[in-house]
Amino acid sequence: MDLYDVVRTRRSVRKYRSDPIPQEVLNRVLDAARIAPSGSNRQPTRLIVVADDETKKRLVPMCHDQAFIATAPVVIVACGRDIKYNRGEWMGRCAMIVDVAIAVDHLTLAARAEGLGTCWIGSFSNAALKEFFDLPEDVDVVALTPLGYPKGDAFTEAEGRIPLEEFVCWGEWSG
Ligand SMILES: Cc1cc2nc3c(=O)[nH]c(=O)nc-3n(C[C@H](O)[C@H](O)[C@H](O)COP(=O)(O)O)c2cc1C
Repeated sequence: MDLYDVVRTRRSVRKYRSDPIPQEVLNRVLDAARIAPSGSNRQPTRLIVVADDETKKRLVPMCHDQAFIATAPVVIVACGRDIKYNRGEWMGRCAMIVDVAIAVDHLTLAARAEGLGTCWIGSFSNAALKEFFDLPEDVDVVALTPLGYPKGDAFTEAEGRIPLEEFVCWGEWSG
C-alpha cells in the first residue's frame, strides 16, 4: 500500500474478528516498531504481546473496562524503560515516552498496511499493569493496543480533523 493511503485510512478499530494473525504478519508489524527511531538510538521500548484469552480479559479492568480490547486476537502492551537520558531541557524529561510513542505509531501504521486494526489505549492503570506483568521499577507502560482484523469496513478516511490552514503556521505562530 502507498504510505499516504496507509496514513489516511488508519482508524481506531474497536470491533474485531477473532481470526488469528499469521505469525509472519505479526512479526512484520512488530519489526516495524522495533526499527523506529529513538533519542540517541537508546531504544527504551519493549512490547509485551498477549495472545492468551484469559490474560486479555484480565487486562480489561486495568484499562478502565474497555472490554473491546479483549475481543482482538492479540493485545500489545508497549512499555518503556526510564533511560535516564536528559539533555537538560524539558523534552529530556519525557524522552522515553516520546520514543515508545514513535514505536507504537510505526506499529499502528504497519498494522494498517497489513489490513489489521489497532486502537491506541492511553486510558489504563500503569500501577495495575506493572504489578500484573511484574515490571521492573524503572519500566512503565506507555500505551496498549488491540491488534486484529476489523469487523466490517473500518479503514475509512480521517474525519474531524482541523484544516491544514489551522494546523500549520507559516514562519510565525498564529494561533
Ligand atoms: C494518546 C492516545 C490515547 C488514546 N486513548 C484511547 C483509549 O483509551 N480508548 C480508546 O478507545 N481510544 C483511545 N484513543 C484513540 C482516539 O480516540 C482516536 O485516535 C481519535 O479519536 C482519532 O480517531 P482515529 O484514530 O480513528 O483517527 C487514544 C489515542 C491516542 C493518540
